[in-house]
Amino acid sequence: MLSLVVVILVSYLIGAIPSSLWTGKLFFKVDIRDHGSGNAGATNTFRILGWKAGTGVLLFDFGKGLLCTTVVSELAWIIGDGPIALYPGWELEPMLLIICGVAAVVGHMFPIYANFSGGKGAATACGMLYGIEPISISISLAIFLILMFSTRYVSVGSIFGSLAYPITQLILRYGIGWDIDGSILLFSSALALGIIIKHKGNIKRLLNGTENRVSSFKPAKG
Ligand code: G3P
Repeated sequence: MLSLVVVILVSYLIGAIPSSLWTGKLFFKVDIRDHGSGNAGATNTFRILGWKAGTGVLLFDFGKGLLCTTVVSELAWIIGDGPIALYPGWELEPMLLIICGVAAVVGHMFPIYANFSGGKGAATACGMLYGIEPISISISLAIFLILMFSTRYVSVGSIFGSLAYPITQLILRYGIGWDIDGSILLFSSALALGIIIKHKGNIKRLLNGTENRVSSFKPAKG
């Protein structure tokens, strides 16, 4: 059981690293949460600090999720305190990856290093899901890009890209008969719901026509 506690904790602490906030404070003397959408995430970093900082934050946040599913989860076997009892009947391997990934996304959304005020989790969830099953997340990513470029709203891409993931899983599992673990479907649905709830401010702005569109990314003075 110790191994499970350790991987959850390590994943949370990695996911919680507030890359956008620290990049802003360290290199630009700017608190990203006081500008733009106020979100401590890659999109707002692009918007406020420019494309170089935005790209760095995006890759870092994506990498946090990927690292936790692919590397941190392996810690459980290295610590090796015997079989990890999770839930009877659930396969251990996918559950372990999902638990690590979800802990990283929760860390990103509610970081201990930043008063639990974090980002919306889309990039970290994307990295996490690439570490688990790349086909569904590639479809989600394609939907995200199409919607982002056609509407010029990142939030529209994020919301529908998140929704697309469990729907793709459902189609692959029940429509095509792929052997996809049910726990991935369950947790990815919960994750999609969490990401959409985190977008409630964006949804309000979209409805009243005040949501920020993607335009040019101008860096703040640093
Ligand atoms: O993933 C976050 C994005 O969908 C919206 O970011 O800064 O416009 O609220 P932002």
